[in-house]
Amino acid sequence: MKKIIAMTLCLVATTVTANDIDERRVLPVTEMQRNHILTEMRALLAGTQNILSALARDDMAAVARHARPLGTGMAHKGEDHMQAALPQEFMRLGMSVHKDFDQIAADAESLKNPKHTLKQLSESMNKCVACHAAYQLRITDQPEKSHAQPMRHKH
Ligand code: HEC
Repeated sequence: MKKIIAMTLCLVATTVTANDIDERRVLPVTEMQRNHILTEMRALLAGTQNILSALARDDMAAVARHARPLGTGMAHKGEDHMQAALPQEFMRLGMSVHKDFDQIAADAESLKNPKHTLKQLSESMNKCVACHAAYQLRITDQPEKSHAQPMRHKH
């Protein structure tokens, strides 16, 4: 019986791999841009873990302390050059996540209600899931210019 289950699992795994074409929209980025985005992503993951750990201890001050750096302040760090490279919808979704963390920090301080924070975090993380389902990064030497805001010269 165990053997049959193992074989079935193997078959399923093979089938999944065979059809495993990444159909998410490609965002062409330079190596620097990719590094910038992924560094921010890892900070989001680590910060979220810290928030959950603080919530498990009902330490709402720590929740606010870990949520604040993931807020809109994070987005403003050198993101101007990203604006041009990435589609508006991507930037909007990202900004909306940063705003959620601002709100999570503010509410953790004022309401001090772990259940409320947990709900906020869970809802916000739907945006992590949605964005990851929609986009992938790919390094190119020449990032696609189609999303770029054209430079406007004043004459
Ligand atoms: C606006 C879009 C967007 C949002 C929102 C978003 N991500 Fe990402 N994230 C990406 C993209 C694009 C990648 C790269 C995926 C790829 O190329 O396969 C990525 C990659 C990652 C990685 C991998 C980092 C690495 O070093 O490889 C982690 C971890 C991650 N995201 C965590 C999160 C978490 C946690 C959230 C929510 C709190 C989040 N992301 C929200 C777009 C987003």
